[in-house]
Amino acid sequence: MIRHLLKISDFTKEECEKIIEKSIEIKANPEKYSESLKNKTLLMIFEKPSLRTRVSFETGMTQLGGHAIFYSIKDSPLGKKENIHDTAKCASRYVDLISARLFKRKDLWDLAKYSDVPVINMLDDFAHPCQILGDLQTIKEKKGTLNGLKISYFGDSHNNVTYDLMRAAAMFGLKMDVACPEGEAYEPEKEVLDEVEEISKQTGAEVRVVHDAKEAANNSDVVYTDSWMSYGIPAEQEEARKKVFMPFQVNSELMKSAKPDAVFMNCLPAKRGYEQTAEVIDGPQSIVFDQAENRLHIQKAIMLFLMNKF
Ligand code: CP
Ligand code: NVA
Repeated sequence: MIRHLLKISDFTKEECEKIIEKSIEIKANPEKYSESLKNKTLLMIFEKPSLRTRVSFETGMTQLGGHAIFYSIKDSPLGKKENIHDTAKCASRYVDLISARLFKRKDLWDLAKYSDVPVINMLDDFAHPCQILGDLQTIKEKKGTLNGLKISYFGDSHNNVTYDLMRAAAMFGLKMDVACPEGEAYEPEKEVLDEVEEISKQTGAEVRVVHDAKEAANNSDVVYTDSWMSYGIPAEQEEARKKVFMPFQVNSELMKSAKPDAVFMNCLPAKRGYEQTAEVIDGPQSIVFDQAENRLHIQKAIMLFLMNKF
C-alpha cells in the first residue's frame, strides 16, 4: 500500500519517532546518505510561496543523490485545462514522490487519492506535517526528551501549523495550551478538536484552547507562535487581525510566565512586532534558526521513509 503524509497523524507515534531518529542520524552523517535516493525524482507542486520548504526539499533531494523539480501551479494546466486526477496519474508515471503546497486540503487529498506514488503535504489549510516533524526533532534536541513537556501556542489558531502541533501533542501525550481570540475565525476547527480529543483519550495528553495568553504560557517548556497573516490572507485584513491578535503577542513579559529555560519557536516566516517582538525572536531563548535548519534533515528522513529505505 502506498503511504502518504497529509497530516502528522497519518503516521503513528512510533513512525514519527523513527523518522526523527533517522533525521538526527542523517544530520550527524549526511555523506552516508549521498546515494540513498540516487536516480529518484521528487516533483514539488507549489500554489503558495515558500522559502524553507522549497529550498530544504530541493537541497535534501540533491544531497540524497536524487533530483527535485520545482513546479509552480502558475505554469501548469491544472485547474484550467486539466483536473487533479489527470495531473496525479501522469506525474506518477514520471516521478517517484510528489509533494504539494496547495491552498485547499481537498485538492491535496485528491492528489493523494489518484497518485500512484507517495504524496507529501508541504502545507495546505489543514496541516503542515513536515514542519511539525522537524519541530519535534528540534524540541527533542533542545530538551533531551519529548516526554512530560508543556507546549503553549499563541495567536492565529485557525491555522495549519497549530493543527498539526495539536495533533502531535496529542499523539505524544503532552500538555498543550492554545491561546487565541474567541471566534470561529481564530479558533481551531471542530474536526481538529475532535481528532485531538480522540487521540488524547488513548495517550493521556491534555490539549486545551484558552483565551488568556498568560494562563497558557504558565509553566511552558516550549512557547510557539505562527504568522498572523498566513499565505493567502488578503492584505486588507492585516490591520483588523493585528488588533485582534495583539493580546496574544509573544513578548518578554509573556515569556516570564513560561519556565525560565523555555524555548521560543516560530515556523517562520515571522514578522517582528506582530506575532512576537524582536526582543523575543532575536533573544537568547529563540531557537528559530535551528528549527529552520532541521527542516532539511527531516525532509530527507521523510522521503527515505516513504521510499521504504528504512
Ligand atoms: N515554515 C515554512 O514552511 O516556511 P516556508 O513557507 O518558507 O516554506
Ligand atoms: N500558517 C502559515 C505557515 C507558513 C509556513 C501559513 O499558512 O502561511
